Formats: sequence, structure tokens, C-alpha cells
Amino acid sequence: MKKELLYEGKAKKLYTTENPDQLIAEFKDDLTAFNAQKKGEESGKGALNCQISTQLFKLLEDAGIRTHLIETIDANHQLVKKVEIIPIEVVVRNTATGSLSKRLGIEDGKELPFVLVEFYLKDDALNDPIICDDHCLMLGLVEDRSELEVLREKARKINEVLKAFFAERRLKLVDFKVEFGKDSEGNILLSDEISPDSCRFWDMDTGEKMDKDRFRENLGNVKVAYEEVLRRILEEK
Ligand code: TMP
Ligand code: ASP
Repeated sequence: MKKELLYEGKAKKLYTTENPDQLIAEFKDDLTAFNAQKKGEESGKGALNCQISTQLFKLLEDAGIRTHLIETIDANHQLVKKVEIIPIEVVVRNTATGSLSKRLGIEDGKELPFVLVEFYLKDDALNDPIICDDHCLMLGLVEDRSELEVLREKARKINEVLKAFFAERRLKLVDFKVEFGKDSEGNILLSDEISPDSCRFWDMDTGEKMDKDRFRENLGNVKVAYEEVLRRILEEK
């Protein structure tokens, strides 16, 4: 079904198919951090993220959030709708940590008084800088301000659904990054992936990090943590 390689990112490859409106996403085992200054590989990571992201996108579809996912093909391939990615990394934060704590000096682990939504420019050469609404408009990343409101609203809704889902599974959703794309009809769809590569999960009982911070901070047991996240996602509640 794969025709040609259309795009290769740090964690996924995208292939064209016979259908011009559909692509195949292949989840890779590669791990990168700090804008690919740190590189690694974890056999089976791609398949874990593919399964995790599929489950979460289905959950979000059921909650009324449209996504690019059509179906899972096999362990590490999804059939997805072709979209034009809006080059904004939308980061949602419930708890301060990572670059937020560093940039603004907010204590690591402090609960934020409200859900924070931030925009970062998706541009590796510029190291994904944080940007404001005016930057988004000036760079022509969106058509108008209302589109930024749509992104914020969708990001908050995704947070609401995922936060509650993971809390039931004793995982605290600390923060995450999502990307959106536009299909040929101009609909804004949740795209890319949601996985432990793009989220922070802290075990509610032990405080243990269950995400890519294990790789970023050399904590070990990266795959074990991703497997545990998938196991909890699949738990019946
Ligand atoms: P940060 O604290 O490093 O800004 O990360 C915030 C969240 O966004 C965290 O869950 C990890 C995720 N993220 C990505 O998925 N890709 C990235 O390139 C970066 C910098 C963060
Ligand atoms: N995804 C980014 C990178 O590869 C940054 C990160 O997640 O830390 O390099």
C-alpha cells in the first residue's frame, strides 16, 4: 500500500498511498531529545506509540474531537487523512515543569492555577521558539485570530478528556504537545500523535516519570514505562 516516502520526521515517516487524500504513518523506534542533540533507539517503541496514539485518538474521536486517524494497519502503521500541518506546536500544561519552570522560575511540580496553553513555532532550525498570537499572524501560520481560538479550545478539550482518563488510571497528565492539520476541505483535525514521546505522565502513587523524560534524563527503563502506560490505557474501567 505504501507508495513513496513523503516526509521523514524524528519519530515518524509518512508515505503516500494510492488514495491522494490518505497517507500511511510509520512510527519509528528512534528517540530524540533537545532538538535531536540527543539521539537513541528503543526497539519496539514505535509500535508502542502507534498503539497508544491510536487508543487516545479513538477516545478523543468519541468525545467529539476530529482527528486524522482512519485506522491502524499493523503494529507500527496507521492510515491517516492527508492534512497540511499547521506549523504550531500547541503545548498544554497542568503542572509546572520542563521549559516552563526553567523559563519563568516556577517551582517544578507546582500545580498551575489554570490550564496553560502555549504556542511554539514548529521549526527545528530555530529550535521551536515560543511565540505569541501576533507572531502566529505575522508569520501567516493561521488565517486569523479566531483560528488560534479554535486551536486553544480544541487543546483544552483534549486536556479535559485525557486528564480525566489518565487520572482513573493513576497517571497524572502533567503536560503535552499536540499538532493540528487542515484537510482538503479546511477542517482542522488533530494530527501527528499523542504518546509518551509528546506527553509527561507522572505515576500518581510513586511520582515516577512514565514518559520520554526517562530518556531525556537518562533514568533508564524507557520501554518498560511506555509499556506500562499502554497497559493502563487498555485497562477496563
Ligand atoms: P517542555 O517543557 O520541554 O516545553 O515540553 C512541554 C511538553 O511538550 C512535554 O510534554 C513534552 C512536549 N514536547 C514535545 O512533544 N516536543 C517537543 O519538541 C518539545 C520541546 C516538547
Ligand atoms: N522532540 C524534540 C527533539 O527531538 C525535543 C524533545 O522532545 O525534547 O529533539
